[in-house]
Amino acid sequence: MGKVIAVSNQKGGVGKTTTAINLAASLAFADKRVLLVDMDPQGNMTSGVGRKDRDKDAQTVYDCLIADSTSGYIPVIETDVHGLFVLPADRQLTGAEIEMAALPQREFRLKQTIDRLRDSYDYIFIDTPPSLGLLTLNALVASDAVIVPLNAEYFALEGLADLVGTLRRVQSSLNPGLDILGVLLTMHDERTNLAQQVTREIREFFGDRVYSTIIPRNVRLGEAPSHGKPVILYDVKSKGAEAYLALAREFITREHALAERG
Ligand SMILES: Nc1ncnc2c1ncn2[C@@H]1O[C@H](COP(=O)(O)OP(=O)(O)OP(=O)(O)O)[C@@H](O)[C@H]1O
Ligand SMILES: [Mg+2]
Repeated sequence: MGKVIAVSNQKGGVGKTTTAINLAASLAFADKRVLLVDMDPQGNMTSGVGRKDRDKDAQTVYDCLIADSTSGYIPVIETDVHGLFVLPADRQLTGAEIEMAALPQREFRLKQTIDRLRDSYDYIFIDTPPSLGLLTLNALVASDAVIVPLNAEYFALEGLADLVGTLRRVQSSLNPGLDILGVLLTMHDERTNLAQQVTREIREFFGDRVYSTIIPRNVRLGEAPSHGKPVILYDVKSKGAEAYLALAREFITREHALAERG
């Protein structure tokens, strides 16, 4: 049965989408079967894997959330990376936040869809919007674990208490098994003292949950989405691609360690 991981931080622009796409693509590269689920109405994940400009009537994750999520058609599509698939989103998803509020099982709408997909993948990554609303809540309820990307800047730790609080609430009421799987430092600039200082603070706060792999600030990572490609297809020799391939290796090593511990 596949493992479901939300990539979440209510702070905007910290590398959630970049991490979900490139960790997933790197795992697919390592022969895993991986699904990306776009739960952000910005649809950055969908366009980042080159699947934005489809037929405008094509179904998206919105339809799964609003229609009967226990049985309807699930519009998963292929990407250019072998073994990597996406359940896309577009602007229409904005409306789901409000429409779902009036539906039964409103926090479990995504989970009902994800549970029908689990068996077909090794890993499912859910990208979340920069907020703690009903879309993010649905992602957290549907997930086994969370990866939190943080950029090593002065305000990185600010607002984390809100995220940790939300995770605790979800754990205690809606999804007891939910856990922080890992914390990832992104857009790191090792030349600055500030980044080093913030990195130390984050390691003190989260201990060994922080991945030893650090994602550097890298121009190729910023460019790849505008070409609709994960960085391993855009420039596999770039520092950004190397970093996400290293993250995938660390991720798999940790998964093996978790499995051995039972
Ligand atoms: N390591 C990096 N080096 C350079 N640019 C990066 C890096 N990671 C992400 N970017 C760029 O920074 C911007 C923000 O990244 P991203 O979209 O992944 O963040 P996000 O947390 O998903 O944002 P949002 O909260 O809006 O969904 C994007 O333009 C992305 O291409
Ligand atoms: Mg994003």
